[in-house]
Amino acid sequence: MRAIIAGTGIHVPPNVVDNHLLAKIMDTSDEWIRQRTGIVTRNFADPGQATSDVAVPAAEQALEDAGLAEGDVDYVVFATMTPDFYFPGSGAILQHKLGLRPVPCLDIRQQCAGFVYGLQLADALVRSGQYRNVLVIGAEVHAGLMPWTCWDILIGGAERRPPAEEFAFNTRFRDRAVLFGDGAGAVVVVPGEGDERGILDVELHTDGSHVDKMWVRAGGSAFRPYFEPGMHARGDTVPIVEGREVFKIAVTLMPQVVLHILQRNSLTLDDLDLLIPHQANLRISEAVQKRLGLPDEKVFNDIQKYGNTTAATIPIALHEARQAGRARPGDLVCLVGLGSGLHWGAVLYRV
Ligand code: ACO
Repeated sequence: MRAIIAGTGIHVPPNVVDNHLLAKIMDTSDEWIRQRTGIVTRNFADPGQATSDVAVPAAEQALEDAGLAEGDVDYVVFATMTPDFYFPGSGAILQHKLGLRPVPCLDIRQQCAGFVYGLQLADALVRSGQYRNVLVIGAEVHAGLMPWTCWDILIGGAERRPPAEEFAFNTRFRDRAVLFGDGAGAVVVVPGEGDERGILDVELHTDGSHVDKMWVRAGGSAFRPYFEPGMHARGDTVPIVEGREVFKIAVTLMPQVVLHILQRNSLTLDDLDLLIPHQANLRISEAVQKRLGLPDEKVFNDIQKYGNTTAATIPIALHEARQAGRARPGDLVCLVGLGSGLHWGAVLYRV
């Protein structure tokens, strides 16, 4: 028996922030961002809106798509690097907001690889017969990790410039601050009916020697206290992304894991109908595509609209690919993610 994805759902907050708006609060331009990343717009949550809030509508849509009700959910795997609070995790908060039974809820922290890790868990839980209907969510609200405070300009329509000091502070982080957006994607994994459909294989890897390539320096148990105001003032709460290093690693490891998972299932790139790569940068996806020699119609990208939504990029793209008729019944789809940790991996899925 294989585990199948019975339903998908997504949600992005309605505040659309284009590159021109970002150029009002830091020294950047639409041209630079489009050329280097492919990103045109991203969405940001309202102040006070947390990751679990963005996840709720995505989860509801996925359940409806699967023909299931909240009471049918047996297990939740919630992948996020931006939980509502330090503890408890967003899974428990989502359980309450969705009105689920008191089922187990797990938060996992594999950043941009979080969703492929979540699918591996769901697949194992369903195939072992321990649980039937597993809700897997990838969701992020990055807004609070951004260096700026001038949300009134970005999402409030305020016609003002930030003070020069804030403009300079934002510009210090412009290489990474233009990449991220908020959003959520959810799927429901259930037992299949013994046919060819379903999750064929999952291959996962971790290499902790690259922790400092993508991380947030502060706060945490490495500090006493966890947080102190100086951390914010120094910009230590803003993600660090060693962009060029990450780029090189991503365009090496992502094609490698795709080729390996195909090979160990006696399949080739010719058998593949669609590759859904984590959406970190359109240039990364294009380089991965080129290294694999795949035509445009075999690769799905939507980073132009949403930016990098970390754990949410793959489930959002999977949902949109289904909607666009690019992941049809019988198609062989490969999902591939790589993120801070380093964690990376791929899922082979027969729709
Ligand atoms: N606007 C205008 N100019 C900029 C911007 C900006 N937003 N950002 C950087 N620049 C400037 C730099 O100051 C530099 O100027 P200089 O040549 O005068 O010094 C120039 O552009 C080149 O800067 P680089 O940082 O070298 O630019 P690069 O071409 O490497 O692009 C980028 C940076 C987009 C971050 C790219 O390296 C990348 O996408 N890497 C991968 C990032 C990634 O994978 N992120 C996801 C992981 S996050 C996670 O997992 C949690």
